[in-house]
Amino acid sequence: MVTASWESFIDEAAALVARARYVVALTGAGLSVESGIPPFRGPGGLWTKHGEPPMNGYQRFLADPQGAWRERLNPSGPMRELWETLQRAQPNPGHRALAALEECGVLRCLITQNVDDLHRAAGSRRLAEIHGNYTLIRCIECGQRYPGEAVSLDELPPRCAACGGILKSDTVSFGEPIPADVLQQCFEEAERCDCMIVAGTSATVYPAAQFPISVRERGGALIEINPYESELTPLCAVSIRAPAGEALPRLSARVAELRRAGHA
Ligand code: APR
Repeated sequence: MVTASWESFIDEAAALVARARYVVALTGAGLSVESGIPPFRGPGGLWTKHGEPPMNGYQRFLADPQGAWRERLNPSGPMRELWETLQRAQPNPGHRALAALEECGVLRCLITQNVDDLHRAAGSRRLAEIHGNYTLIRCIECGQRYPGEAVSLDELPPRCAACGGILKSDTVSFGEPIPADVLQQCFEEAERCDCMIVAGTSATVYPAAQFPISVRERGGALIEINPYESELTPLCAVSIRAPAGEALPRLSARVAELRRAGHA
């Protein structure tokens, strides 16, 4: 049987995970490529195809929240492509493998840059969605979040039932500060982490890209899963050149084997 060259790294990665005290995962758009959602950068990336969006999305929202809501409800160009794929997407084996690692008590937290709700749909619960969740709506004053279907859009912009503030999609726009609650959670989890699984991210967008660097600086181990090299590759103890939907189930299964054999 022909084994892919990357499979030999699964054992090494699994041993690191099984030995670790506090495992955290950081995921990006690459996790959802096998669910039909394009990445942003690299081959087939939305920004690669259409160019990076303006970096002042949030300032434009604040200047005209009604207009921004009209655009959101009737998106055009790359955003239309993104929203359409989001609505159709289902979790893939990569999402489910991370949920299984949480379920067996190995994975303590999953920090995702993805707004696609697929980790939650796969069963992950200890989740920090650092760029928000497209199914939620958030108040820009008090930070209260609401399920999208619970907010009436008869009047735009919709207003917060708790404080009267303007409501916005929970997804974090370029130029918008990361909401304090989720940022605090991410820093705390990264601070405790001694082994980080970094899957499907180019690790170029901050503050998310800082977390694995901080783990490494404190002597922790990084395990990368990405078909292509990234900014982070040189810092990783193990870097697996494979699609997340193939490598993560193997990693999760191998960790479970090691735990059953008492190696953790
Ligand atoms: N499995 C794993 N990784 C993959 C796969 C796959 N099947 N396919 C592609 N990748 C990798 C690419 O090689 C790339 O390194 O996923 C990475 C995706 O990188 P980006 O498109 O830059 O996505 P991400 O790192 O999540 O971007 C961060 O930038 O545009 C903003 O807000 C947006 O959250 C996003 C942030």
